[in-house]
Amino acid sequence: MKLFAVFGNPIKHSKSPVIHKLFAKQTGILQNYIKINVPINNFSQSIINFFQNGGLGANITVPFKKEAYKICDILTNRAKYSRTVNTIKITNSKKILGDNTDGIGLLKDLKNLNFITSKSNILLLGAGGAAQGIVYSLIKFGCNITIVNRTYQHAKNIVQYFKNIKKINCLKIEHLLNHLFNQINYDIIINATSSSMKGDIPNIPLSIIKPNVFCYDLFYENGNTPFLKWCVSHGVKNISDGIGMLIEQAAYAFYLWHGIMPDTKKIIIQYKKKIFDINHFSF
Ligand code: ATR
Repeated sequence: MKLFAVFGNPIKHSKSPVIHKLFAKQTGILQNYIKINVPINNFSQSIINFFQNGGLGANITVPFKKEAYKICDILTNRAKYSRTVNTIKITNSKKILGDNTDGIGLLKDLKNLNFITSKSNILLLGAGGAAQGIVYSLIKFGCNITIVNRTYQHAKNIVQYFKNIKKINCLKIEHLLNHLFNQINYDIIINATSSSMKGDIPNIPLSIIKPNVFCYDLFYENGNTPFLKWCVSHGVKNISDGIGMLIEQAAYAFYLWHGIMPDTKKIIIQYKKKIFDINHFSF
């Protein structure tokens, strides 16, 4: 059976094998998709071993997306500009092709939710690998992006990476707190910081939160993330965590490997309503 895997550390709680099992069932494609917990200093060797042992493709997750970018022979534009790779495929000529499906997956989910138009003004919180990976698809769609990050230089780096495609703004947190900048109306606020993982919320002023703003957290957990709870407590009605994006980015990876796009709508509904019990799946 064709072998695929997700590489990360930690990887125990990854939902990717379940999602890919559902895609395989839906499309009738036979694939074996496993989790590989990679020692922090052993990423490139693990990938080489996997491909030597017959692996055909892989998803790459935290903290290896920037390292994955460096080992690829060929890059899609999405991967090239974001300098991060979340999906790898071995080509017929045995080259490593790197793609990044996070941004296109997020864009698809934002469209599913009716959160986005090509004219949306987006406030992007965070400037780590997660933020870097989603910018390309959003600006290609036409959106304007302003990045705010705890460390200003990291936001400036992202602006630089994409300068040949579209001008992205970046602000210091103190500027966002400043009255003048609060006049800007953002349509969507995306939390791409890892603050939710620590039970924390990014430092943004309340004045940014308008009742009609759409708030999206790339992260997810049982129940709302701390950022989404904070948004709701200040009157935001339209919120979403990153489960839809997780499923959509997986679908684009599946498409890269097999040339077939799974129907994600049903799977997202099943997931959100917890219609199936993840524990009933064995790998
Ligand atoms: P990843 O590659 O998964 O995005 P990362 O590179 O560690 O992870 O980046 C995490 C992002 O979350 C960064 O933008 C980080 O801000 P800094 O660039 O200042 O480090 C941001 N971040 C992490 N914890 C945060 C917190 N408690 N409040 C605000 N921002 C936070």
